[in-house]
Amino acid sequence: MLPLLSLLEDPTMVGMYKLPPRSTAWPTRQLEVAPGQLLFDLDDCRLKLNGFWKFRWTPTLPEDGDGFAAAEFDDSGWDEIVLPANFECAGYGTPIYSNYTYPFHCDPPHVMGEPPADWTTFVERNPTGRCRRRFTLPAEWGGKRLVLYFGAVQSAFRVWVNGGFAGYSENSMSPAEFDVTGFVRPGENLIAVEVYKYCSGSYLEDQDFWRLSGIFRDVTLYATEREYLADVRLAASAAAKTVRAEIVYGGDTAGLTVELRVRTPRDGDFAVTVPADEIPEVALPAVELWSAELPVLYPVRVILKRGETVLDVRHYRTGFTTFEIRDRQFLFNGKPLRFHGVNRHEHDPRRGRALTLDGMKTDIRMIKEANFDAVRSSHYPNDPRWYELCDLYGLYVLDEANIESHGLSYHACVLPGDDPAWFPSVFDRIERLVKVNRNHVSVTLWSLGNEAGYGDAFTEGAKLLRSLDPRPIQYADMNAVADFDSQTYPPPAWLEEYAGGNAERKGEHGEIPHLRQHGAGPSSKPFIMNEYAHAMGNSTGNFPEYWETIEKHPCLAGGFLWEWCEHGLIPAGAEPGFFAYGGDFGDVPNNGNFCCDGLVRADRIPNPGLAEVRQVQQPVRGTFDRAANRLSLTSRFLFRSIRGAELLWVLLRNGGAAASGSLRVSLAPGESCSFDAPAPIPADGECFWRLTLLDSNAPHWRTPGLPLAELELPVGEPEKRGVLPGANPLYHAPSGAFHAASAPELPGLLEPPAIVLDRAVTDNDRGCGFDRRTAGRRPEDCAVRLDWEAGAAGAFRARLSFLAQPDCPEIARFGLRFRFGSGSLAEVEYYGRGPGENYCDRRSAAFVGRYAAAPESLATAYTRPQENGRRGDVRELAIRFADGRRLTVVSPELFGFTLRPYSSAALETAAHAAELLPDGTFELILDYAQRGVGGDDSWGCDVHTEYRLLCSELSAVFDFQLIPE
Ligand code: GAL
Repeated sequence: MLPLLSLLEDPTMVGMYKLPPRSTAWPTRQLEVAPGQLLFDLDDCRLKLNGFWKFRWTPTLPEDGDGFAAAEFDDSGWDEIVLPANFECAGYGTPIYSNYTYPFHCDPPHVMGEPPADWTTFVERNPTGRCRRRFTLPAEWGGKRLVLYFGAVQSAFRVWVNGGFAGYSENSMSPAEFDVTGFVRPGENLIAVEVYKYCSGSYLEDQDFWRLSGIFRDVTLYATEREYLADVRLAASAAAKTVRAEIVYGGDTAGLTVELRVRTPRDGDFAVTVPADEIPEVALPAVELWSAELPVLYPVRVILKRGETVLDVRHYRTGFTTFEIRDRQFLFNGKPLRFHGVNRHEHDPRRGRALTLDGMKTDIRMIKEANFDAVRSSHYPNDPRWYELCDLYGLYVLDEANIESHGLSYHACVLPGDDPAWFPSVFDRIERLVKVNRNHVSVTLWSLGNEAGYGDAFTEGAKLLRSLDPRPIQYADMNAVADFDSQTYPPPAWLEEYAGGNAERKGEHGEIPHLRQHGAGPSSKPFIMNEYAHAMGNSTGNFPEYWETIEKHPCLAGGFLWEWCEHGLIPAGAEPGFFAYGGDFGDVPNNGNFCCDGLVRADRIPNPGLAEVRQVQQPVRGTFDRAANRLSLTSRFLFRSIRGAELLWVLLRNGGAAASGSLRVSLAPGESCSFDAPAPIPADGECFWRLTLLDSNAPHWRTPGLPLAELELPVGEPEKRGVLPGANPLYHAPSGAFHAASAPELPGLLEPPAIVLDRAVTDNDRGCGFDRRTAGRRPEDCAVRLDWEAGAAGAFRARLSFLAQPDCPEIARFGLRFRFGSGSLAEVEYYGRGPGENYCDRRSAAFVGRYAAAPESLATAYTRPQENGRRGDVRELAIRFADGRRLTVVSPELFGFTLRPYSSAALETAAHAAELLPDGTFELILDYAQRGVGGDDSWGCDVHTEYRLLCSELSAVFDFQLIPE
């Protein structure tokens, strides 16, 4: 056998004795499958080897050749581990969170060199997990062909059966299979696996995520006859109304036949049987197209027979689609498709990359409910069950090869570049991506990888991919070889320039592209943002601006938001609500909380940005024409009709229902309808239409009662955008005279109210340098002034002013802070935007209304604590104190407030949400204005100018009334 290092450090060595890749389908004896059943769950011809294994972990490579793989080796002193698992999540070794710095000494293709002494890999040079497991061969499997399947193992492994070497594999995210027939014996058998955290393949797996190792997808042994279906490639043609099966057989197929059966949704089953040397093709009377909106699937069964004897049965589900790139548009099923996509890493807060089916179902339900229609498998082929769910539920998949060399090759031609030594690994990763997943109709685009630079590896890789499947290719680091043009994190203004043919293509940090990389611009291809709207912490600002821009320009085909889920890990025994990020395990090097940049936390609790995205991506839009007194609705569906949906309407006046009712709505795809306002508009007061569309044909997976769309349509002038507030329509100056006074006495007030100009630093503030630009700025260094006046019967007024100093051109907020002692506040009520947190550039999902809340419920527990909890466009605010008194607040302008059960100082110092325990005190900040949260990226782009507080002077008035019990 080859010495271990010559396997691990040879880039051309991608595996030994591995079977060629094939589309996912287990052999089965089951002839029928229930409609919703996952095909990956069929298990009557396989022995699942998940569960308990004997386990021994070492921080680096153990001594080779010590006989640990022999059946008789004594493993009684070993631990036990439950597979699938990432070893670090089971308590073995240190998880390292690195964005792109290779966590080992970087010297390709070597991984065993000595790194700096403070790096985790100085000690854990190449963590190795040895796993052993016994199994009993089912008696009826005697004489059959036996295949050992590993769904995913990071980063490389060797496997032995009964001491016999069965093979070696790299490429962590694709299945590896070995024919072990010759090693298995009747009765008891032993499998031994040795898993290495780093190998030369790790140079192509430099993705921004936790560096974990393990056997983290299914392990299975399955049996086939000696003649079997080695691979089936389905080709469903909508134009010809046919399904064809291109089959690779194993064994001697002389005299065998193959049956192909296709089940249609309406016309029953259609089948053909042909000799095994012919390609079976079934013709159908009619076909319905598959889309994310209407995921119509056609169950397919393939049976290999000798006479009437069934040798092999495989089940698939296919679907019909058409696609074409024409006039810089992506026409999918004949319609220009724009991807409302999201990037999704595979992550479970306790299990790392070892996902559960329930976890995947939660993700797909939540993703669909947020009105996404597409998902990028960033940055590697996913768990096979995920593709089945995408077929069944309907999500367009941008399916990505497991290739990233960011630390060496971002926007560069280094590795793999033009170096043929790396080509076998690149091609293997592309081939395994495509051959395993190409039968999934949900796969709509392929990606050659992420941030791996450009070079011949990709020119040739794209050719290889095209020889395997016709679907279009995307690859942002070398658009020249792709069918789409793409770029990460372009701000909306850049999209505008791009659409006009004037944009300069650059890397995320301004890297100037090579002509060979992207070809000459402007290109004639449709454009997608493979990543955009970086949702890190308090973010997802200016999301409507993205979609307004995209919808203006036919060449813009949407994008994939970064990203679905944060990667916080919950260590064993952690405090509830604690999520570890880079550095929390003592991991070096690390990138801190940069892995916490999702719309949902690692436990899938939504961050506030999720509601914004759901709102902006809604399938139905509405307007109210005051002059014509008509409401209109437009469906944004491309394929699905809305039939007889119930539209609940409420006419709100000053936050109360003036009238309400319901009507039925039907809309063909893309169609609009309009109707007379169903109630007269009151003569005075501030009015909004609130529309809720309930789907009469809600799919089974949708949370019951969740509307198809919710709309807020102002009856008056639509709100203007920007950081400065509009006039408060409900404001009446209090009557009576006011005179100069000192700061008011309020129940529980801990210190005199004070002007605040800053806010707790958000991830985006830090990323764009706002915190450094404004560091150390205190109100007393600026020209600020706070004057109090007292009126009659508990009325008082605060007058605030701010005059920018030359060194103080920008502030985070202009507000007034109150601190209240323990137990002093009982409830808060307001008329403004809610119920969720909102900011001037992220407020689409926060409708104007009257809301009541417990005072401790308004803060948001961002994984890394930062500014949070604001409610904006407030007309009236009332605080009820524990002693029964009430404080009301109004202002001539709409204002914002933030109420948190801890101080800003505590917020600034806490590194994790779990450290921010309410201490009974409250901080209330009334904002005249606060800058937006931003959302283009978290490493350079500032909040858009119109949402920044760049003012030479500001003044504000707040009127208070303290009302006795
Ligand atoms: C991209 C990269 C992602 C992730 C993201 C920032 O450049 O492709 O993997 O690092 O930036 O969170």
